[in-house]
Parts: sequence; C-alpha cells; structure tokens
Amino acid sequence: MRAALVGPVGIANLAIVTLPEPAAGPGEVVVALRAASLNWRDLLIVEGGYGTRQKRSRLIPLSDGAGEVVATGPGVTAWKSGDRVMGCFHPDWQAGPPTAEALASDLGCRTDGVACEFRVFRQDALVRIPDGMGFPEAATLPCAAATAWSAVIERGGVRPGDRVLVQGTGGVSLFALQFAVMTGAEVFAITSGAAKAGLLRRLGARHVVNYRDDADWGRTIRRLAGGRGVTHAVEIGGAGTLRQTMHATAAGGFIAMVGVVSGARAELNIPVMAMNAFRLEGVAVGSRLTLRQLSETMALHGIRPVIDPRAFALDGLRDALEYLRTGTHSGKVCVAFG
Ligand SMILES: NC(=O)c1ccc[n+]([C@@H]2O[C@H](COP(=O)([O-])OP(=O)(O)OC[C@H]3O[C@@H](n4cnc5c(N)ncnc54)[C@H](OP(=O)(O)O)[C@@H]3O)[C@@H](O)[C@H]2O)c1
Repeated sequence: MRAALVGPVGIANLAIVTLPEPAAGPGEVVVALRAASLNWRDLLIVEGGYGTRQKRSRLIPLSDGAGEVVATGPGVTAWKSGDRVMGCFHPDWQAGPPTAEALASDLGCRTDGVACEFRVFRQDALVRIPDGMGFPEAATLPCAAATAWSAVIERGGVRPGDRVLVQGTGGVSLFALQFAVMTGAEVFAITSGAAKAGLLRRLGARHVVNYRDDADWGRTIRRLAGGRGVTHAVEIGGAGTLRQTMHATAAGGFIAMVGVVSGARAELNIPVMAMNAFRLEGVAVGSRLTLRQLSETMALHGIRPVIDPRAFALDGLRDALEYLRTGTHSGKVCVAFG
C-alpha cells in the first residue's frame, strides 16, 4: 500500500512510500481509507513541533480519516466488511472526562496516523458515518468538529440567547459557529478578509469584525454584544488574541482555550480574569462518544462541514500542508485517496 512517511522530522522529508498491507489481529479491523483531513497540528507534527511527545522517525502523519471496513479480525462483533467508518482522534478515550493515558493515544503523533491506504483500528476506535455523509465530510470530524463540540456544547453549555465569539475561518472555528447557531445563540466572528467575512455571515454569524483592520476588536465585539460582551469565546488564536478575547467577554463568561495560531505563550492578566469571574478551560478534542453524538446531530440537522474547494491527493500531501500554512484556506483542507 502507499503511505506518507515523515522522519527525520521536517516537511522536506515527507515522502510517499510503499509499505506492506496490514492485517487485522483479534478485536481489530482493517479500514481502506478514502479521505483524510488536515489540522493545524499536522503541520506542527510534521515539523517536529511536538518535541518528545511525538514519534520523530518513520511517522505516518494525520489524525483524521474515513473509509470502509475491508477485513475483520477474530472476535470483532461491531463491524463487517463494507461498513463506512471514521477513526477516533483519541482511540483510548471512549467517554466521560479524559485521562492522561487517553490523551496520549492521539493518532498521527505518538502513534501512526491515517495518511495511508489501509490502516488497522481497534473495533472500539471507530464511529459509524451517518447515512448521506460522504467520506471527505466524515474525515473532517474527528479532531476539528469534536473540539468545537466539546468547546461549545459539552464544556460551554451554550444555550439559546447566548452570545458566542469565534475566531477566523479555520476548521475548528467554522464548526464552532455552526454548532452555536444550531443552539440558537447569537454568533460574533473575527476574520482577516472580506470574502471570508461573507462565508461567516452565510453560515449564520450576526456580526463580523476584521481583526487586521481593527486592532482593538475585543472592545468592538463587546460593544456589538450590547455593551456586555459575549458569554462564550472559542479561543483559537492564543497569545496574539487572548487579551482581546478577554476584552470581548462578559463578566462570568466562558473562554474555551483551544488553539495557538498566533502564538503559544501569553501573559495572563490575573486580576482581570478574577474580577470578571471568567472561566478559562482547556479543551483537548473529545471522546469517541463526543464524535458519535456530534456526527449524528449534524446528520439530523443537515449541518454540512465546510470543505475548502482545493482538493489534494495523497501524492500532494506536502502541497496540502503548505497550503494550510498560507492560511488562505476556508474550513477543512481534505486529501482524497485514489
Ligand atoms: N485543543 C484542541 O483540542 C485543538 C483541536 C484542534 C485544533 N486546535 C488548535 O486550534 C487552532 C486552530 O486549528 P484549525 O485546525 O482550526 O486551524 P486552521 O484550519 O488552520 O485555521 C486557522 C485560522 O485561524 C485564523 N487566524 C490566524 N491568525 C489569527 C489571528 N491572529 N486572530 C484570529 N484568527 C486568526 C485564520 O482565519 P482567517 O483566515 O479567517 O483570518 C485561519 O484560517 C490551532 O492552534 C490548533 O492547533 C486545538
């Protein structure tokens, strides 16, 4: 089978190679991958950015893939050949609060990922793809959608009438926007360009502010949110955005700490945080149950993932990662397997 392999780390070392086809052991299934999607972390991992927390040689990258079961090992009762499935981001996190061991089981980092034509999964590391959802759509869900669902629904508890801030037009943020709109919340968004502002509005954002034109966008959002600020923020910017996010957030508000696209280490103004009784909470993707619930809810409500129009093949994985780096994409960048 063909697979992408990186290591020593560095995007220049990413190569497409031929490897033996894997076989299913007891309790395992072989999935023929049909599509994968990229996340910001994949770029970091390919370049060795996870330090000692990642495999640094001969790593098959990417965490998010969808495909078809083609073989089952002894004792497999949950799946049969032909079933359409997506892989869980953390195979060892089935439900409930995470443990250190569960969080260490993420694909495409410490263990091999899905940038390969066939992959073995434990039978409890998969979720069924809802009817009517395609492979590329399903492949966008395991990391970005699960993270957004955890931030907005499970941890944030967003309800009708809440005011939710999302940042940019990347994978996590567009899912967060869609889930917040679904709950009946009023959504506020920031982005860097006019065309992207149009996409955010079409998806249901009521107010959009350009963070490049308005350096004080946090206070602008607060003003737009009736002078009180937003009740929830999904923070994907990190160091470059947290201060403005705190300006935008209402007293008692919830800030889901998700990402670091503008820097990983920020100074925290503790008195501002304490006096406003903010709740800052780290989010680490989600469990298998989270993935099942969000995919079924998306199917029920007809929510479709936003997929960037540029499509890539496995051979073009390096180009796809470079494209992600440009930040010119909207939503999810996908790779289709031939
Ligand atoms: N904790 C978790 O569980 C978890 C899970 C998934 C991802 N993450 C992290 O979340 C972040 C986003 O991931 P992703 O996969 O959604 O990324 P992505 O698809 O690459 O999207 C990144 C988007 O961020 C926006 N952006 C860039 N600089 C910004 C700034 N200074 N202020 C506001 N927005 C800015 C851009 O939107 P515009 O072009 O519209 O400006 C860009 O498209 C990454 O740091 C990733 O590592 C964390």
